[in-house]
Amino acid sequence: MIKITIDGIETQVPEGTTILKAARQIGGEIVPPAMCYYSTLKNSGGKCRACLVRVAAGSAKDPRPMPKLVPSCITNAQDGMVVENLTNPAVLETRKGIVEFLLLNHPLDCPICDQAGECDLQNFAYEHGMANTRYEEERRTFEPIEIGDKIKLHMTRCILCYRCTYVADQLTDNRVHGVLNRGDHAEISTYIEKAVDNEFSGNMIDVCPVGALTDKTFRFKSRVWFTKPLDAHRECPKCSGKVVLWAKGEEVLRVTARKDQYGEVKDFICNECRYDHKNMKDWVVEGPRHIDRGSVIAQNHYEKTDLLRLKQDVERQIKFQQGKKLIETNNSNGQ
Ligand code: SF4
Ligand code: FES
Repeated sequence: MIKITIDGIETQVPEGTTILKAARQIGGEIVPPAMCYYSTLKNSGGKCRACLVRVAAGSAKDPRPMPKLVPSCITNAQDGMVVENLTNPAVLETRKGIVEFLLLNHPLDCPICDQAGECDLQNFAYEHGMANTRYEEERRTFEPIEIGDKIKLHMTRCILCYRCTYVADQLTDNRVHGVLNRGDHAEISTYIEKAVDNEFSGNMIDVCPVGALTDKTFRFKSRVWFTKPLDAHRECPKCSGKVVLWAKGEEVLRVTARKDQYGEVKDFICNECRYDHKNMKDWVVEGPRHIDRGSVIAQNHYEKTDLLRLKQDVERQIKFQQGKKLIETNNSNGQ
């Protein structure tokens, strides 16, 4: 095990753990945001730069700071490493620039986008962005593309995180996908259409951090915050059968996989569960899905308060404030 300190909070992780994973082990607000990294998809990360942090000390053996901010999702922790995330104003300032960069070509069509309310880019911009953009050039635009009969691609909204291509590569057969061209001509290639017959292709929708890939069976049916998310399961020979039903009354409007607190799917689900069982009777309903209080989906969403979770949140908050104070004191002492 090695020791790493993030925003003044020390933790121990196995060698080979990335800074982001170490931060997730600590949990709470010190965890850097991630727009392209996805723990269950191999080779993801290193594309969006949302997770940049400052390494104030490289390791116990070589305590020199790293000269540039580093992407925490692909940089391994070292023994004695000291990392600054929220406690470093330069990191926060850079993050504003990253939001601005990701929004250069992204349309501000949240009022009509199905991803609104559960869009990682919307959350990222809200938490870290600036009110204005300095971009004056024309945005690139694309016509929406039908990817099979259930998925629609709005390339205009894509931030080229590559997650869907990894789903196509790692969850479906044959390598028939990719990103075509480079720079501001880059786009998700139509080869991806060839992956849609696969039984797990619907997972591309769940991993897309923005509204570029949407479920055609749910499009424009409801704003997500007007639906009631329920944990449910069924016996499925193809996948775990553990899903979230997004219901309105007794009507199931959408079925998705379950995501963790970082918006990542742990158990990918098959297309049959996703598209072919929109009847409440097909499912064993376990109860209301836990929704983060900060999410717009939490409005009118009542559930029993989880006292353990509340206690952990408070403890993390106290640790974070102590760490922040320590760094400020060290900085003012010129250390
Ligand atoms: S379509 Fe979505 S998942 Fe695919 S690269 Fe673009 S933003 Fe990422
Ligand atoms: S999440 Fe680390 S670079 Fe995208």
